[in-house]
Amino acid sequence: MSSSAPASLVPQHVAIIMDGNGRWAKQRSLPRVAGHKVGMERARDITEAAGQRGVKSLTLFAFSSENWQRPFEEVSYLMDLFVTGLEREAKSLHKNGVRLRVIGDRSRFAEKLQNRMAEAEALTAGNTALTLNIAANYGGRWDIINASNLALAGKRAAGDSSALQEADVTPHLALADQPPLDLLIRTGGEIRISNFLLWQAAYAELFFSSVLWPDFSAAELDAAIADYGQRQRRFGKTGEQVAETN
Ligand code: IPE
Ligand code: IPE
Ligand code: MG
Repeated sequence: MSSSAPASLVPQHVAIIMDGNGRWAKQRSLPRVAGHKVGMERARDITEAAGQRGVKSLTLFAFSSENWQRPFEEVSYLMDLFVTGLEREAKSLHKNGVRLRVIGDRSRFAEKLQNRMAEAEALTAGNTALTLNIAANYGGRWDIINASNLALAGKRAAGDSSALQEADVTPHLALADQPPLDLLIRTGGEIRISNFLLWQAAYAELFFSSVLWPDFSAAELDAAIADYGQRQRRFGKTGEQVAETN
């Protein structure tokens, strides 16, 4: 599939669990962090490719709320990579019309990193070609609890003591302002969600690739998009009902 694929077959919102950096490095007798460095280059390539193919939102899992448990050196390296990456890439993202957003609980990051995130977001806020969401210190459970607390606070402030409904929570979730998640890709061969977009993935199409993230290419993305184009999304209805309305 190329950039000329019919728009309806192109997922509007793609999320990727970029997994396999450590194993890629280990296979080459390199330190794990060498995999993260190359992984960062892949994130840049895939962002560009996704935009060219007509994807409107791309959400990349860069650091989970559980990844703090990794060795101190690895976590420090990843933090440095975020800072330098944001400093280096913000301008070119802006030039390419990409709006950058960071989703997750940022309060745990160093002030310098929080500032870089805010600066990159401010610089690119008006762009419309593609929204790139970087999930950092993100957890799906955190997202749901955070949104629920915000919804609850709003209700209480309005003197409303009724129970929370889905419609109260959804506007406060990360990515609420973006198209629904269509396609969730995980690289690196593991068949699990690892606390990524739990709520948003409820009806996403899932695609698992055994390719390690540093080896992931635009051709692999195209394979995932082509596979997505073959799926029938039923959202609980029968296949016949869906076929009738298409
Ligand atoms: C994913 O690659 C990147 C991050 C979690 C930051 P891993 O570092 O998890 O790579 P593997 O799974 O150990 O190969
Ligand atoms: C998920 O990968 C997190 C990111 C890709 C950032 P992990 O490597 O942390 O997931 P598990 O530990 O194998 O489930
Ligand atoms: Mg991993």
